[in-house]
Amino acid sequence: MSKFYPLTVGKVKQETRDTIVVTFEVPDDLKETFHYQQGQHLTLRADINGEDLRRSYSICSAVQDQQLRVAIKRTPGGVFSTWANDTLKPGQSLQVMPPMGHFNLPLSPTNEKHYLGFAAGSGITPMLSIIKTTLLTEPHSRFTLVYGNRASSSVIFKEELTDLKDIYLERLNIVYVMSREQQDVELFNGRITAEKCEQFFRSWIPLNDVDAAFLCGPEEMIQAVSGALQHHGMDKGNIKVELFAASIPKHKSNAQRPVVGAQECEVTVVIDGNHTVFTMVKEKESLLDAGLRHGIDMRYSCKGGVCATCRCKVVQGKVDMDANYALEDYEIARGFVLSCQSFPVTDNLLIDFDQDN
Ligand SMILES: Cc1cc2nc3c(=O)[nH]c(=O)nc-3n(C[C@H](O)[C@H](O)[C@H](O)COP(=O)(O)OP(=O)(O)OC[C@H]3O[C@@H](n4cnc5c(N)ncnc54)[C@H](O)[C@@H]3O)c2cc1C
Ligand code: FES
Repeated sequence: MSKFYPLTVGKVKQETRDTIVVTFEVPDDLKETFHYQQGQHLTLRADINGEDLRRSYSICSAVQDQQLRVAIKRTPGGVFSTWANDTLKPGQSLQVMPPMGHFNLPLSPTNEKHYLGFAAGSGITPMLSIIKTTLLTEPHSRFTLVYGNRASSSVIFKEELTDLKDIYLERLNIVYVMSREQQDVELFNGRITAEKCEQFFRSWIPLNDVDAAFLCGPEEMIQAVSGALQHHGMDKGNIKVELFAASIPKHKSNAQRPVVGAQECEVTVVIDGNHTVFTMVKEKESLLDAGLRHGIDMRYSCKGGVCATCRCKVVQGKVDMDANYALEDYEIARGFVLSCQSFPVTDNLLIDFDQDN
């Protein structure tokens, strides 16, 4: 489950000045392993200047395409994205973890739904996969996308979106919001804020016929849009969120929080059916860091509570979880936690990486 597979880069397309689209070749014997759902992401791994780095990138193709394609936008000062944009070439091999993530909803050809998407910048990648898959799978459903960018030159997948719009004239509606390029309609200028959403929902996109919303972009945009949607009566359970990065609060040390019971915890980790036991100091490090230090191949990517690659189920015992930008309420209720953000509370813990439900 935590395994990486070497995949060959088949194509690298310069999508915009600062974004490449990378297509991987998947050999026949790995097709099932790399079968993906709309909105899922891959974890890529590379050794960059002697450092073992992992980063998540969302798949941008429709489920019907089964073409493993990701878009990597150069983050100023960002190690992995700069390396990928500068060096990735066809023929190169990269370590890739099979698709993960729950940024989607079940689809059915009989559905007649109206979905709403808000994306900003590279947040369009999982959204493109969701839009294409939805319109192909549900012939009676519609999709409205609000897509925020600085200017037309930085719009990722502009051509593909235009082509999609041509195919699905009646069922796809795209609104471009530009922060540094003047457009005729004043509402379409600036950033996607709560105030802008209020205006959208009042005039352009009445929410009474919207069944569910997908949000992907920076933290402020997601908070603003999610708040506005809920303010207009949308149930939180119908708002699906994918965050690419967040400002992570530091773990509160035991200086502020007294340790309950013993200072140490005996942890049993189940991965691929194997049980490994180790002991860790409760407040010193996360479960993930402790497990890695004991040589267990625990899967992870962001280490910041964002990507959910390190998701596992607490079967016995209790943990204290710091940041969580990835798990939904129902997953937490079922006992799922992010091991990179979890610290033992009880003296014994059993965590299972093999359980998905
Ligand atoms: C589920 C998920 C899906 C994602 N999908 C995509 C996707 O489809 N496309 C995409 O492009 N990204 C995606 N991301 C984000 C991606 O995983 C990386 O976080 C992103 O590419 C940045 O990685 P990096 O190594 O380049 O930056 P890092 O080196 O990790 O830097 C992160 C931040 O720190 C800042 N920083 C780092 N070094 C410096 C410095 N020296 N000075 C100032 N600031 C600095 C950077 O500006 C950046 O904001 C996704 C993330 C998640 C969790
Ligand atoms: S490694 Fe990304 S949430 Fe834990």
